[in-house]
Amino acid sequence: MTGGAGFIGSNFVHHLVAHTDYVVTVLDKLTYAASREALDGLPENRVQLVVGDIAEADVVDPLVASHDAVVHYAAESHNDNSLDDPSPFIRTNLVGTFTILEAVRKHDKRLHHVSTDEVYGDLELDDPKRFTEDTPYNPSSPYSASKAGSDHLVRAWVRSFGVRATVSNCSNNYGPWQHIEKFIPRQITNVIDGVRPKLYGSGENVRDWIHAEDHSSAVLTILEKGRIGETYLIGADGEKNNLEVVRLILKLMGQPEDAFDHVTDRAGHDLRYAIESGKLRSELGWRPRFQDFEAGLADTIAWYQQHEDWWRPHKDAVEAAYAQKGQ
Ligand code: NAD
Ligand code: DAU
Repeated sequence: MTGGAGFIGSNFVHHLVAHTDYVVTVLDKLTYAASREALDGLPENRVQLVVGDIAEADVVDPLVASHDAVVHYAAESHNDNSLDDPSPFIRTNLVGTFTILEAVRKHDKRLHHVSTDEVYGDLELDDPKRFTEDTPYNPSSPYSASKAGSDHLVRAWVRSFGVRATVSNCSNNYGPWQHIEKFIPRQITNVIDGVRPKLYGSGENVRDWIHAEDHSSAVLTILEKGRIGETYLIGADGEKNNLEVVRLILKLMGQPEDAFDHVTDRAGHDLRYAIESGKLRSELGWRPRFQDFEAGLADTIAWYQQHEDWWRPHKDAVEAAYAQKGQ
């Protein structure tokens, strides 16, 4: 698999070790977003880490040749970074996915490509519709455009070259090991530091939250039971606006619920994401297990309180970069 030292990829590695007999090789470049520690303590006979770049064919090709399947998580993943400098997003998300596709094509290996609901653009707040597998692509940011392009590459390799691939598009994940540049961990670590949470713009933007563990169980289900060439949307009916999430974090951390600030909005900020995951549920029998968002958030807060040694070294630099942009 690729990207197994990142937030969601490392959750998937733990999920595989706990629930299957698979032996896993993680190919990860260990960028700023990676946490080698997230793989600590896993059995050496089950998990091996190879440090390398998915955009380099001489790294990817022999690894693909010696494995049965590839689950592709590696990506540049943060929208705000893609607005500051899109170039690594093009290289990793597009050239990297192309490099993997050429290797699975050459060696005839099964591929599962992990993608995002952001490829569909956004919905109005009062739109009764949610995203489905038939929603037209309409990405807004350099990040989501690069992921949309990677999805199109996968589908072209399926149709033109017969590559055995599936695609999944998931909504916003939360849980342990998420980089503190992202919304929920940024606000939790701000409150720990006595700093008021920062809401972009009005805070009315809606995200459809799913626990990373549910994303992992869905990807494993698709890898094992998904129909080749198909796309499955992954979501757990977790729509919340950012104001609600910040108020809940403040409440759970014993602060007044209005102790936050509005800051400069994100350019091109998507208004609302919402996933209809009926296909995955009815065809493959998948169900989310972590549907109590308040309980999941409380556990996540406790995790960040207990793992300050992991995030503390990065906090000042993350906040300095946001402060320069008025965020
Ligand atoms: P992350 O930024 O936490 O981790 C990305 C991982 O990829 C890191 O370990 C990094 O070192 C690795 N990586 C980056 N460039 C690489 C390269 N060129 N070669 C090898 N490794 C490289 O990301 P995440 O939030 O865990 O997201 C993982 C995947 O899930 C991404 O494809 C993302 O688009 C998708 N996704 C994320 C979410 C979410 O809410 N975070 C939701 C839906 C889909
Ligand atoms: O929908 C799936 C996507 O979810 C994934 O593809 C991305 O990899 C992942 O990063 C996430 O994208 P978002 O842009 O939705 O997540 P982020 O955590 O950056 O922001 C969530 C919401 O919170 C969004 O509306 C912007 C807002 N926000 C974010 C930050 C960092 C704030 O209001 N304040 C903040 O400080």
